[in-house]
Amino acid sequence: MTFDLFADDTPQGRETLGPSAVLLRGHALPQAESWLALLEQIEARSPFRHMYTPGGYRMSAAMTCCGELGWITDRRGYRYSATDPLTGQPWPPMPDAWRALAGEAAQQAGFQGFEPDACLINRYVPGAKMSLHQDKDERDHSWPVVSVSLGLPAVFQFGGLQRTDKTQRVPLFHGDVLVWGGADRLRFHGILPLAEGEHPRFGAQRINLTFRKAG
Ligand code: SIN
Ligand code: FE2
Repeated sequence: MTFDLFADDTPQGRETLGPSAVLLRGHALPQAESWLALLEQIEARSPFRHMYTPGGYRMSAAMTCCGELGWITDRRGYRYSATDPLTGQPWPPMPDAWRALAGEAAQQAGFQGFEPDACLINRYVPGAKMSLHQDKDERDHSWPVVSVSLGLPAVFQFGGLQRTDKTQRVPLFHGDVLVWGGADRLRFHGILPLAEGEHPRFGAQRINLTFRKAG
C-alpha cells in the first residue's frame, strides 16, 4: 500500500500493534497546524539542544521538554528534572490542548485518567535517528506513553522486551498518535534515520511529542 504523505487523505483509523499498543492514524491532524505556534512558544523559553548520553554520544535528535518534569541526559545519566539545565528555569508549561489530546488518546487505547506531567519534544532533521531503547525512567510503568508525530514521516521500530528481539517497522505520519502501555510499555523502540523531505507546514523536519506520567 502506498500513501501520499502530504495529501489531506493521510491514512486514518486504528491499528493494533500489541495487546496494549494502538496506533491512531491521523488522530492529531485537526490540531496539528495550530500546534506549530505552541511549539514556537516553548522553544523560545527552552530551546532545542542536542543532549549527550551517559556514554558521551551526542544525540542526533534535538530535544526540549514541557510540563512539570522534563527528561534529560548527560554524563551523570538519564533522569527527569523539574528545571531545564540550559536555562536553570522550570520547563515551559504543557499546553492544555496537548494534555487533553494525550489523555483522550490514552483513553481510546484503554487507559483511563492519564494525566501526563512530562512531554518530551524531539526534533529530527534528515539523517537524525533514535537508537533502540526502552522508556523506563518514569516512576510508574502502569501509565502508557503517548506519542504524537508531526511533520516529515519516519519509520518507527517496535521491538520486544529484549534489545535483540525482532522489530517491526511502522511508518509514522504527520498527525499519527501512538499509545503503548501495559504489556507493551517496556518494549524497545527507535526511529530509523529520517529521509530527506519537505513538509508543507513543518518544513524539513519531524517533531515527535511523547507524553508520560513521570513523577
Ligand atoms: C522516543 O522514543 O522518545 C521518540 C520516538 C519518536 O520519535 O517517535
Ligand atoms: Fe522512547
